[in-house]
Amino acid sequence: MTDATASPNTRSLLRLPAEQQFVEEFAELDAIDDRQRPPNWRLSPWAVSVYLLGGTLDNGFEIAPKYFGNRRLIEIAIATLATDRALLLFGIPGTAKSWVSEHLAAAISGDSTLLVQGTAGTSEESIRYGWNYARLLAEGPSRAALVPSPLGIAMEAGKIARVEELTRIPSDVQDTLITILSEKALPVPELGQEIRATRGFNVIATANNRDRGVNDLSSALKRRFNTVVLPVPADIEEEVEIVQQRVASLGLALELPAETPALEEIRRVVTIFRELRGGATLDGRTKLKAPSATLSPAEAISVVNSGLSLAAHFGDGTLNAAELAAGIVGAIVKDPVQDSVVWREYLETVVKERNGWQDLYRACREIL
Ligand SMILES: Nc1ncnc2c1ncn2[C@@H]1O[C@H](COP(=O)(O)OP(=O)(O)OP(=O)(O)O)[C@@H](O)[C@H]1O
Ligand SMILES: [Mg+2]
Repeated sequence: MTDATASPNTRSLLRLPAEQQFVEEFAELDAIDDRQRPPNWRLSPWAVSVYLLGGTLDNGFEIAPKYFGNRRLIEIAIATLATDRALLLFGIPGTAKSWVSEHLAAAISGDSTLLVQGTAGTSEESIRYGWNYARLLAEGPSRAALVPSPLGIAMEAGKIARVEELTRIPSDVQDTLITILSEKALPVPELGQEIRATRGFNVIATANNRDRGVNDLSSALKRRFNTVVLPVPADIEEEVEIVQQRVASLGLALELPAETPALEEIRRVVTIFRELRGGATLDGRTKLKAPSATLSPAEAISVVNSGLSLAAHFGDGTLNAAELAAGIVGAIVKDPVQDSVVWREYLETVVKERNGWQDLYRACREIL
């Protein structure tokens, strides 16, 4: 069930985990990587950074960049994972925290699937271990009746475990992580044993600032993490590039029968999002009210992507203003009252007046 490479249906899976999608890149990196690898790491920290940031190997093989942005942040994240401190990726929604976490786990452990999704309902069992109740009743507590959590599996195998949305997990449940991270062991009192972590084990957690803040983590837990803040893209060029690259690879994966969108259309979406996010037009001349939605690269990617799908199935196959308008308005107007006001104002003062944006203005007016 989990070994999708072995399955003849791999191609029909909607999405493969990174370690399977990029097998070839991993094989090439592994072949040339002569730097020291920390215990149980598949690659050296250097090779992990090349996998994340992209590059050309000496033999000419191209590694596609996964993360666009500050190289140093990724180096700090990787270096942290080679120490006994865990890594916390923090930032506003849609800044690639989960994405980076998946790729780091894939590159370091060859396995990005040991994942606990944090919610308000996450229980201690999902962090520690549970029981196979049929076996527990039949045989009493035994190692065979114990069902390890993804964290327990990662500890035993010396792999990276991922905890998504750490700050959504109730505080008392979060504290279960303290023993794991400081003792590198997980007591199982029912068996009088403990699960001990093998070298190579570590944890990558993610948290976003829209949930309870990192300050709500207990100080004991906070001390066990190094925090790396993933920022929104520094400039418009970088953001356009992120959106363009992700849209191209998503379009391939979804087999959308549409032409790759013109960079100009992507630039328009990104411009609108950056201006509304920043509260001013890019030239700084006009102040703007900010909508309630977070307009991150992730939203821009999905606006362009759904526009492409519209163009492919109900248009002429090329993405233009009419297809973009619906997505843009949908992404911005989350609160029907306040956001509508913000959006109308932006439309009338900025979009309407901007050179070459009349088509977009008309298309947006039509769906108001
Ligand atoms: N700097 C970036 N480089 C590459 N991809 C990016 C970047 N920023 C955003 N993305 C893309 O944005 C999408 C969303 O990212 P992701 O789901 O990891 O966000 P997140 O930070 O985990 O958000 P949330 O807090 O909502 O969970 C991904 O497809 C990712 O590829
Ligand atoms: Mg996430």
